[in-house]
Amino acid sequence: MSAPRTPKIPYGGDYNPEQWPEDTWDEDHRLFTRAGIDTLTVGVFSWSLTQPAPDTYDFTVLDRILDRAAAEGRQICLATGTAALPPWLAKRHPDVTRTDFEGRRHRYGQRHNFCPSSPAYRDHATAMAARLAERYADHPALLAWHINNEYGGACYCDLCAEAFREWLRDRYGGLDALNDAWWTTFWSHRYTDFAEIEPPNALTEHWRGPDHTAFQGITLDYLRFTTDALLGCFLAEKEVIRAHDQDTPVTTNFMGMFRPLDYHRWAPHLDFASWDSYPPLDAPPTWPALAHDLMRGLKDGAPFWLMEQTPSTTACRDVNPLRRPGELRLATFQAIAHGADAALYFQMRASRGACEKYHGAVIGHAGRDDTRVFGEVADLGRELETLGDATLGARTPARTALLFDWDSWWALEISDGPSRLVKYQEVVHAYYRAAREAGADVDVVPVTADLTAYDVVLAPVLHMVKGDLAQRLEAVAARGGTVLTTFLSGRVDEHDRAFLTDVPGPLAPLMGVRVDEWDARQPEFAQPVPELDSEARLVFEIVQPRGAETVATYGTDFYAGTPAVTRHEYGDGEGWYVATALDQPGVDRIIRRILARHDLIGPYADHPTVETATRVAPDGTRLLFLLNHAPDPAHLTAHTTATDLLTGKRIEEGEPLDLDPMGTAILRIQVSVVCSVRK
Ligand code: GLA
Ligand code: ZN
Repeated sequence: MSAPRTPKIPYGGDYNPEQWPEDTWDEDHRLFTRAGIDTLTVGVFSWSLTQPAPDTYDFTVLDRILDRAAAEGRQICLATGTAALPPWLAKRHPDVTRTDFEGRRHRYGQRHNFCPSSPAYRDHATAMAARLAERYADHPALLAWHINNEYGGACYCDLCAEAFREWLRDRYGGLDALNDAWWTTFWSHRYTDFAEIEPPNALTEHWRGPDHTAFQGITLDYLRFTTDALLGCFLAEKEVIRAHDQDTPVTTNFMGMFRPLDYHRWAPHLDFASWDSYPPLDAPPTWPALAHDLMRGLKDGAPFWLMEQTPSTTACRDVNPLRRPGELRLATFQAIAHGADAALYFQMRASRGACEKYHGAVIGHAGRDDTRVFGEVADLGRELETLGDATLGARTPARTALLFDWDSWWALEISDGPSRLVKYQEVVHAYYRAAREAGADVDVVPVTADLTAYDVVLAPVLHMVKGDLAQRLEAVAARGGTVLTTFLSGRVDEHDRAFLTDVPGPLAPLMGVRVDEWDARQPEFAQPVPELDSEARLVFEIVQPRGAETVATYGTDFYAGTPAVTRHEYGDGEGWYVATALDQPGVDRIIRRILARHDLIGPYADHPTVETATRVAPDGTRLLFLLNHAPDPAHLTAHTTATDLLTGKRIEEGEPLDLDPMGTAILRIQVSVVCSVRK
């Protein structure tokens, strides 16, 4: 099953009419029509309303919300509402709340904080999902199911400890395998009974927080267990929904590059992926782009939904800047360019009280339709109507893959040594950014993905190498492709045990290098890499070529003149090894050399503020998105003849192609048809 079929991009977002009297709903719908809003996500936080007491279910308000939406011709993304507990549930069943990393059992409060192993939580949540599905499966407004909300976090209660032990029994069979995997003879940890195993937290294996553990093995397994425990909650709700509704697609809203949950373990269980995009302040445009591509990679490149973004400002940060005029439109088209088939907001109407009252909303407290934000939302609504179904179902024809691996992320960042300063996302982003800014479309895929369609595979900080990945990467190079990996790759197996071979372990034959030593330095220290006119920081692996040629070297210290970057011919292709954290210009130079070999540099790669992304519609139409991320116009020369879907204007090859400040063009590329004339 894939994302719901719709005649145009669903446009709208989180809507909480239950907070308001019904005459406000009239006003809302009037404004929705003005803004081209056709899709409403409802019920995300309505559990205490729909089940005010253990034996009382009351769907009167929800009925009215859905019926009203249907009457207005709007579609509903219906949430099960199980992410925020009603107070009576915690009072009656104290085990539905979590025990935190410090071992404190929490009392009632906030949201997103139920214990995933609590039978009382599971029973009540699935009962709610079942009743909703039974009631609304055939409702004319129902478009999609939205289970829970932004799953995340961990619990360390006794129920979770017991569930963890069960999970370990399943995974390892017996304690011999577990003791071996976790290397427990170190520090006298050999377990003789599963009951001795405690969840790794501040009271047990950790100090200074979640990243400092005495045993990486148990901490990694707790991350995997937590991923699976929360997934279990999702699956239990999905199962009861399916019992009543076989057809409506089911999703849950993810958070992009969210470290606590391995979304690749969830992906097969979603009908379609969706996520909430709140880019970090001052992030370059490639940061949300990477998250979009990661989300698109969850379902083999199938389109995803942008489930939430703010129309103007967030509220939860210390400082919450406004989205500048044009930024919302640009961010929305960027999401669509990367595979979004829906554009939804948090939130439709600002809540009057509590912690999100200052969060941006389509409709503010004064209920006006003449604000700047409402105007931008409505303009965008009109453009999405113009676009119709042109982008729906379109795929990205990428020939470059970037491997993204939660296990490597976790293992790298919970490791003692070589450096706490190496951040997985930052290194991955540097390579992604280089490829994207050179104009390459990139699929961000799990390490288990089929790599046979790619010319270039980037595997930065692939700390953990599992299964047959090394052989599959060798196969990419053998048939002529290029594989790149970096420092701190190929270090550990799936249990975080070092490989008993030369670094980079199973990747060494492909890379043609051997690494015996590595130096880590404070961030102020910069090591020149003269051949790339670049500087490197943090970690410097000392590389001995074993078949590879040296591309660039370290400029100083006792390893001056030894390789910082190597290239190894392998079969018809090559393996590149980057032994240090190069600065962005250094990464750019390497990546452009690699992409050039495969003719993958984009036509506008030399324009620093213009992002390009390609989608191919189900009927074969090729769409090239041009996104100008600068507050100034961009002057380009069209590389081909095309029609801009947003303006309807035809553009001839070689003619000037101007983008407004923060402007977007969606070029439908004219495919030249070669007719063979029969004589
Ligand atoms: C998340 C949640 C929403 C809301 C927004 C605010 O994405 O899913 O309920 O809290 O954040 O930014
Ligand atoms: Zn728990």
